[in-house]
Amino acid sequence: MIESVNLTKFYPPPIKSLFDLKSLRDFLGKPREKIPALIDLNFKVREGEIFGLLGPNGAGKTTFCKIANALVIPTRGNLYINGHDSVREHDKIKGRIFTIFGGERDLFGLFQWRVSVEKNLKFIAELWGIPKAEAEKRINYALELLNLKEKRNEWYQKLSAGMRQKVYLALPLIIQPEVLILDEPTVYLDVFTKREVWSAILELSKEFGTTIILTTHNLNEAEALCDRVLIFNKKKIAEGKPRELIEKFQALKMERKLLVKLRGKVETSDFNGIAEKIKVYSQNGFTYLEIYTKQDRLKDILAILTNYEVVDLQNETITLEDVFKKLLGDENVKRVKSN
Ligand SMILES: Nc1ncnc2c1ncn2[C@@H]1O[C@H](COP(=O)(O)OP(=O)(O)O)[C@@H](O)[C@H]1O
Ligand SMILES: [Mg+2]
Repeated sequence: MIESVNLTKFYPPPIKSLFDLKSLRDFLGKPREKIPALIDLNFKVREGEIFGLLGPNGAGKTTFCKIANALVIPTRGNLYINGHDSVREHDKIKGRIFTIFGGERDLFGLFQWRVSVEKNLKFIAELWGIPKAEAEKRINYALELLNLKEKRNEWYQKLSAGMRQKVYLALPLIIQPEVLILDEPTVYLDVFTKREVWSAILELSKEFGTTIILTTHNLNEAEALCDRVLIFNKKKIAEGKPRELIEKFQALKMERKLLVKLRGKVETSDFNGIAEKIKVYSQNGFTYLEIYTKQDRLKDILAILTNYEVVDLQNETITLEDVFKKLLGDENVKRVKSN
């Protein structure tokens, strides 16, 4: 089990110049301003769960992953992994937890560049004390699952970024850790590779019961993989099963979007005082409407539509993206998507 208790991290501000009095004071003494990365983050992850930390850039995702590996010391609060403090009792957990940092950042310097994929994997398996024959079996299985068999004898250096990310994903399949932490595991990957990585993650969870925490700003990913997600931006914003969040939000928002296609023209004044907002455009004799309405006005809208020759009507379903947008604001989501 993993438990985050009031986990908080403030980074010192960057030193502009040692000749600048304020920077010097910050450097020498206790910095007055602090950059927040995590603020009182509380959550629990059960054994065998896939738990998503979902937040925009700068939300604190990588900081969390670093704290889990004692690479960053929290300002206050604790992260417990199977009952042990991730920083103070790092020794007790370091053989049971494995972390992959996203986007080709080999923070642990695990791979030799001018050595084949297979040799690299064998070497790392040996480091983790996996017997030779067993290691070979697991390596074959991982290469097969990740569609990497042809790359077996290729130098690590020669692989594309996506391939490298997959070679990384082979490691937890070989090491089979109790806890796996994935920091943006599919960032920069094309859709096909993304799918392969997703199935490897699901396989790990299903086959070995690995407890997995993954961070992402990809909402589809969170929806596809995670049993539960925590939406946060430094502070916790919401937590729950992806479906539950969507449903809870749907009830809260009480706003619907109807997409209507009808033959002929439409009198928008018909909807005055009933619809919240309406967008209209016409093309080839058809009129297209986007109607935003409160849930309880739905039947009035439908009554008006009976006066027209409706060809198509769609009730847009709310996705995790809508929830995310509403909770974080459109701007943040746009920023995330443009990455
Ligand atoms: N070493 C550091 N020194 C100062 N500020 C940092 C450092 N690392 C991260 N930050 C800041 O902490 C916040 C959270 O960063 P990070 O954990 O990398 O977020 P994410 O991984 O969600 O994008 C950001 O505002 C970032 O600029
Ligand atoms: Mg990050």
